[in-house]
Amino acid sequence: MLSGIQPSGRLHLGNYFGAIRQHVALQAEPGEHLYFIADYHALTSTRDPAELRENVREVALTYLALGLDPARATLFRQSDVPEVCELAWLLACVAPMGLLERAHAYKDKLAKGQKPSVGLFTYPVLMAADILAYDSTVVPVGKDQEQHVEMTQDMAQSFNHLFGGGAARPPLVVPRPRVPGEERVAKVPGVDGEKMSKSYGNSIWIFEEGKALKNAVNRIQTDSRPPEEPKDPEGVLLVRFLELFLPAEELAQWCARIREGGAGAPGYGHLKARLIEAIDAAFGPARARRKELRADPAAVERVLVAGGRRARERARATVDRCYQACGLR
Ligand code: ADP
Ligand code: TRP
Repeated sequence: MLSGIQPSGRLHLGNYFGAIRQHVALQAEPGEHLYFIADYHALTSTRDPAELRENVREVALTYLALGLDPARATLFRQSDVPEVCELAWLLACVAPMGLLERAHAYKDKLAKGQKPSVGLFTYPVLMAADILAYDSTVVPVGKDQEQHVEMTQDMAQSFNHLFGGGAARPPLVVPRPRVPGEERVAKVPGVDGEKMSKSYGNSIWIFEEGKALKNAVNRIQTDSRPPEEPKDPEGVLLVRFLELFLPAEELAQWCARIREGGAGAPGYGHLKARLIEAIDAAFGPARARRKELRADPAAVERVLVAGGRRARERARATVDRCYQACGLR
């Protein structure tokens, strides 16, 4: 199982529920687990070296603080395995332009007026190389990355078809995506009700605490309807946040009181206070672990370097196999 996450700033609740939580939970399943920090990919958007370094460190701290266990899962930096760039070239030579032109993520960025670099256009090829280099079979990703994994399947199949020579074991293993089924984690809302995303300025950092957390929660949009007015809880944004944290039974009670209205109904302030309490309970221990890890950068670096070595061995073997298959050896 393999997944990657881009180092592009502090990770938010959407990243946690949509991706990180699954990654950490999966390490308990049988099999090998690899998670990497996609720093090569980050170069499609980051121009500041100090910022890139800091962001890589932040992702490592985030995963380790949230429970990723380096003894069970390999955590590494993408650029510690330069073999992925070699494999990306081989894949680029079999990937049709049309396949890449259909990528939603690329088209969305164009539509937003971003001037694309060649790297942005070929982003899915590098991502395919990330996945295929380690013979990954399952790729846990958010819904928005599913198409990239499907493109990976296409590229692997093309390469195997063109260069496999009918071998019983084709050079590349065709992976499948694994996307969380639950709707509420597939699209965590931001404080404005749109999808939470760092680029929309509507996100809440996973490790926010104290006054800053209170400010963040206060930004969650409400309206001026009084507490007594009966409301459909579906339409109350705070409820969509509470859903992420509260046990089903307690959530049902809050929803019932909101629906009924009257004197027993909670005001928005009340819901916010409960949300802060729930966030503190959920992330309190991880915040403490993050602070400890932050104070020991050498230990974090050791984890990444050791992970990179393990990952690189596997990638080298795959790339050598592909070189053989296509005639470069
Ligand atoms: P952002 O939108 O903040 O730039 P990324 O695109 O870097 O976030 O996403 C990293 C991972 O987090 C992806 O796997 C993505 O599916 C997941 N993710 C991001 N935002 C959300 C969200 N609001 N709800 C659920 N998952 C999300
Ligand atoms: N594109 C992914 C994202 O933005 C990050 C990523 C890069 C990735 N390479 C990958 C995810 C390989 C899974 C597998 O979230």
